[in-house]
Amino acid sequence: MIYTARKGANAPFILDILRLYVPPGTSGCDVTFGKGTFWCPDSLAHIGELRATDLASDGTDLTMLPYADNSQGFHVLDPPYICGFFRPHHEKTGGLASHSDFASRYGKARRGGYKGLFYHAAVEALYLDGLAEAWRVLGPGGVQITKCMDEVSNHRQHLTHVAIVNAAAALGFETLDLFVVIRNDMPHTRRIKRQEHARKNHSYFLVFRKPGGKRRSA
Ligand SMILES: C[S@@+](CC[C@H](N)C(=O)[O-])C[C@H]1O[C@@H](n2cnc3c(N)ncnc32)[C@H](O)[C@@H]1O
Repeated sequence: MIYTARKGANAPFILDILRLYVPPGTSGCDVTFGKGTFWCPDSLAHIGELRATDLASDGTDLTMLPYADNSQGFHVLDPPYICGFFRPHHEKTGGLASHSDFASRYGKARRGGYKGLFYHAAVEALYLDGLAEAWRVLGPGGVQITKCMDEVSNHRQHLTHVAIVNAAAALGFETLDLFVVIRNDMPHTRRIKRQEHARKNHSYFLVFRKPGGKRRSA
């Protein structure tokens, strides 16, 4: 039985999602492949071809993919989800310095923001542009898988996953599922005088479908 919430790594969620929603042998793309941690041997055995790209490794921008319209069976999106990656040039990167372990796993900070936007506005804009590009390249019935995390930025609560679900619906995607990934460890934090919000120790996989294809039978 596949459940919606679990502790641990990302790769088992991708396998669950593929088994539930992506017919065996389907080919598609992971547009933020990074170190490829989403992909275990069982997932790779389930699909056809995996087209793996990332801005950092091959210069492929998730907002301008080199694929024809309606050509992909699935699309995986996991861009930087923390506002600190999109600081203005004059600000220090702090804990997200390019040599940090975090930065090496999640991409170098994008100094100068994204399309004139900074911090959380830039995070959301990149997700939304990525979803619009997913809509273009996915074929009818194609499955879109987005990894995201909510964040508090500048003392404001941003439920990023809600914004993404709403944007996907506005594009025409059908929402298929939502998975909650719970961290194994408790995120450490600096000593603070007064806690303003609950510290987040979970993230999400969202699953959408571009309508039009054949439904899988149960
Ligand atoms: C959260 S990490 C992805 C981690 C990946 N899923 C893995 O398993 O390693 C975010 C990735 O997005 C990439 N990235 C950032 N902006 C991008 C863009 N405009 N187009 C494509 N990739 C981008 C970064 O290089 C980084 O590898």
